[in-house]
Amino acid sequence: MSNETLENLLHEDRSFPPDPAFTAQANGTADMYAAAEADHEGFWAQQARKYVTWSKDFTQVLDWSDAPFAKWFADGELNAAYNCVDRHVEAGRGDKVALHWVGEPTGDTRDVTYADLHREVQKAANALTDLGLTKGDTVAIYLPMIPEAVVAMLACARLGVPHSVVFGGFSAEALNTRIADAQAKLVITSDGGYRRGAPSALKPAVDAALDHADTSVQKVLVVRRTGQDVAWNDSRDIWWHDAMAAAGDTHVAQGMESEHPLFILYTSGTTGKPKGIFHTTGGFLTQAAYTNSVVHDLHPETDVYWCTADIGWVTGHSYIVYGPLANGATQVLYEGTPDTPHQGRFWEIVQDYKVSILYTAPTAIRTFMKWGSDIPAKFDMSSIRVLGSVGEPINPEAWMWYREHIGGGHAPVVDTWWQTETGGIMISPLPGVTNLKPGSAQKAIPGIGADVLDDMGEPVPNGTGGYLVLTKPWPAMLRGIWGDPQRYVDTYWSRFEGMYFAGDGAKKDDEGNIWLLGRVDDVMNVSGHRLSTTEIESALVSHPKVAEAAVVGANDEMTGQAVVAFVILRQGEGHEHDDNSQIETELRNHVAKEIGPIAKPKKIMVVPELPKTRSGKIMRRLLRDVAEGRAVGDATTLADSSVMDLIKTGLSNPSE
Ligand code: WTA
Repeated sequence: MSNETLENLLHEDRSFPPDPAFTAQANGTADMYAAAEADHEGFWAQQARKYVTWSKDFTQVLDWSDAPFAKWFADGELNAAYNCVDRHVEAGRGDKVALHWVGEPTGDTRDVTYADLHREVQKAANALTDLGLTKGDTVAIYLPMIPEAVVAMLACARLGVPHSVVFGGFSAEALNTRIADAQAKLVITSDGGYRRGAPSALKPAVDAALDHADTSVQKVLVVRRTGQDVAWNDSRDIWWHDAMAAAGDTHVAQGMESEHPLFILYTSGTTGKPKGIFHTTGGFLTQAAYTNSVVHDLHPETDVYWCTADIGWVTGHSYIVYGPLANGATQVLYEGTPDTPHQGRFWEIVQDYKVSILYTAPTAIRTFMKWGSDIPAKFDMSSIRVLGSVGEPINPEAWMWYREHIGGGHAPVVDTWWQTETGGIMISPLPGVTNLKPGSAQKAIPGIGADVLDDMGEPVPNGTGGYLVLTKPWPAMLRGIWGDPQRYVDTYWSRFEGMYFAGDGAKKDDEGNIWLLGRVDDVMNVSGHRLSTTEIESALVSHPKVAEAAVVGANDEMTGQAVVAFVILRQGEGHEHDDNSQIETELRNHVAKEIGPIAKPKKIMVVPELPKTRSGKIMRRLLRDVAEGRAVGDATTLADSSVMDLIKTGLSNPSE
């Protein structure tokens, strides 16, 4: 974040008190803060019993004796799929729409009721059982945003089979490493999905990912979504519709131990290897449902909720699948992009389905701002009453625009800070309770402890910045990194004694509100997606023409950060003064192949040297200065101080 933005943050004095009419009906209440503060465990026990149906009640709330390895509600038992589906049908709400599914091609829609979902999830659980899956096996899911993705996740949950959903934009390589790390026995995919007006293929990436003799995968279930031709391996591939047709209709959900793993979700860390963050059942479901209720102010009887995230990210897990469905919500599930077939697509969906709660990312909001406020103005958006933001800091101006042009000038905007690791929202205003400040996530929600510490681990005073930490264990906290408990301890619990280190910089304003300032480690945030600098560097270096690479996240007006790569080519492969556009394209495509199109560098700069400290560490700070076009900062710790001059001379060549 630039200094100018930081200055703006310090001087934000607009504030929006809650509307009393909103407060009167809000799920969140001011007294929850004190109640949770007075009795942390009692507060969470209450939420666990309020939002979740337990097949066996728990007697112990938190076991922190083996910190930082937590157990929540450990002797309780529950079934997540039962909570998301069956109990709503049993309560007579089977006819209620669970999903208003909107495919990308206009008119391609499907309404899925809770009764429909119940039937599909039972069948899918039986189909998976027929394929030999039992509790404790793992399944990889690589699907577009179609109802089958939700059904597949819930069928896994029903069986106690942790799912590992891999975002459809990841490459075969990325899918392969995730499958191998989780030792998935089954992959659920589709022929393809619709993206920007055309079918795009998914199955070829699965085929390529499984093209290894030692793969753990035995079968691949393939949903027919687009009807495009697919290569078929008779001994491995099975059509989803065939498996479903052959499966029995009824399946009785068994209770799982509260700490049984519910899912694994890979996320970028500071090293090249993605981390398999894993979450367990009872605590995760409790916090997902509670936060969806008090932060989004979901009233399942009357609201139509829409979270625009992809199911491949944690936001899709907590706030499309588990939270809203546990709460019995009616929600929109949209397959496509915001500008297909036109730039008003989102607002047309809001109008058509009378969406009342919208949860999206700042990068999308900034894009809508760029497209112009006349676009949403063409649609009837009077149904909107709550707006949420997630994934990256929201600039105050984007916040104001969102409230004004999407929220009719009255809808509260909740800026929600959390992570794949936290499982659920941690820092956010409560609509109807909090005096809203544009651009700040404000305070830890009831039941959560957060603080900002200085280098020495002391809380910073108001008006000062430092490192964001979480001070108390919370129910949806990650239980570890799949297969690597030590990395869990080292990454999150070693920087500050007894505290969870989030990896984010933050600042407290004069009122103690928390402002998130972006990552303090080598993780980038591009359009709300987490990418690791090291992972992209490894991908670049794996190309035969590259000798060395350094990647930085440079500030970008639209995407928050953009990936900028500095590469040294191998001898004889071109030179920093040449026209390297061809090799740059080649490298960009190579990154897309290794990781996925989301990781493609926006800019690649061929340089003769990289700035390194005497111990050989790349000084990314200096490269960021170059990438952002600033005067280069203090370079005195460089091993060779002429390097920055070399880089700048190389880059001033007009061919760049
Ligand atoms: C960033 C996404 C500022 C942050 C749910 C965090 C945010 C990372 C916000 C986690 C926000 C998320 N304000 N920054 N409201 N929400 N972040 O795991 O840097 O994909 O550490 O989880 O996104 O990204 P992840």
